[in-house]
Amino acid sequence: MDIYVCVGSSCHLKNSKAVIDKLNSRIKKENLEDKVALRGAFCMGKCSNQGVSVKVDNNVYSVTEENADDFFDKNILGIG
Ligand code: FES
Repeated sequence: MDIYVCVGSSCHLKNSKAVIDKLNSRIKKENLEDKVALRGAFCMGKCSNQGVSVKVDNNVYSVTEENADDFFDKNILGIG
């Protein structure tokens, strides 16, 4: 599974770096390094989202440092 985190200028200003760090640490914590890859992506045309645009399976989510754990639980681990 690939997680694409937007690192376009608008998402960069919303601290995409913090979201990447957070998702990375969750991937490590859950031992998913072999299964889940984190990738940077260009602008997804969703700059008006409140959070950073993160794409999984062609769905774009609005992710912040605060909701990154929820996002991970729901959409990556598939629980909740
Ligand atoms: S810069 Fe991220 S969606 Fe536009």
